[in-house]
Amino acid sequence: MNLKGRSLLTLKDYTSKEIAYLIELAFELKQKKKQGITGNSLKGKNIALIFEKPSTRTRCAFTVGCIDEGGHPEYLGKDDIQLGHKESIEDTARVLGRMFDGIEFRGYKQETAEKLAEYSEVPVWNGLTDTYHPTQILADFLTLKEHFGKLKGLKLVYVGDGRNNMANSLMIGCSKMGIHFTILAPQVLWPDDALVETCKSYASVSGSELEVSDSLDVVEGADAIYTDVWCSMGEEEKADERIALLKPYQVNHNLLARTKKQNTIFLHCLPAVKGNEVTEEVFERFANLIFDQAENRMHTIKAVMVATLGNI
Ligand code: CP
Ligand code: NVA
Repeated sequence: MNLKGRSLLTLKDYTSKEIAYLIELAFELKQKKKQGITGNSLKGKNIALIFEKPSTRTRCAFTVGCIDEGGHPEYLGKDDIQLGHKESIEDTARVLGRMFDGIEFRGYKQETAEKLAEYSEVPVWNGLTDTYHPTQILADFLTLKEHFGKLKGLKLVYVGDGRNNMANSLMIGCSKMGIHFTILAPQVLWPDDALVETCKSYASVSGSELEVSDSLDVVEGADAIYTDVWCSMGEEEKADERIALLKPYQVNHNLLARTKKQNTIFLHCLPAVKGNEVTEEVFERFANLIFDQAENRMHTIKAVMVATLGNI
């Protein structure tokens, strides 16, 4: 599989085979790392890490993944560079493209990630925008694969803000990989109709089902329940409104009981606001898996950099 020179702006641009390849490569890199073996496939490569928004996992995953493979990461925080303030995104992109071999971008607009890719002419990896969070999904899928031994045919229910970056990206990824996917959210937080239609077309190819509902009954039979914060970065002022809207959708003991299954797992992309989207009790019950999921950010992000930029 040759992904050299490719950006990762959204999983819409990747086939199910390419996604499966990245998960497999991440699994191999993880096994090697556990044996103390790191690589040098990014030797001589300089990687810019642009963060308009804060990050723990994504920043650390890109940094450690890059260094493990012999590359040099350079953190460029929101107050460090001119991006979009005193210099256009197009110009910053052209400068960075002359100096760096790859660029990670975390920020607000998806359009900024797209412009960076177009004008820098080096691979750009989306480390989260308001619209998508594709590298998170790769980590989620590696975690599901490690736990269940497969992806195809699983049933995943995402509960909460059904129109945020996580809901969008899970919907794309699941419908491509044959995972039955349900968004459970109040109607005002349902995803964009056009994206749902696009994902339904992926689901018809992969053989999975895609549903959006506001009824708690849809969790029945779920292999995995997934949630995310009720207010994404940049939406902090909506806290009161969201709490009122989403309280009935908290992942708690009662919601898990509605799956009518003993072996349903719970996942969270983190950071979590315990007491809002998930109770402390449920979070701690699944803490080992949730932190496997967090660790898997590093192995999967490393796989993305190695596959698209590395000498392999
Ligand atoms: N899940 C995730 O992207 O975490 P950070 O915001 O800490 O990077
Ligand atoms: N929806 C969250 C995801 C954090 C990883 C946010 O954008 O803040």
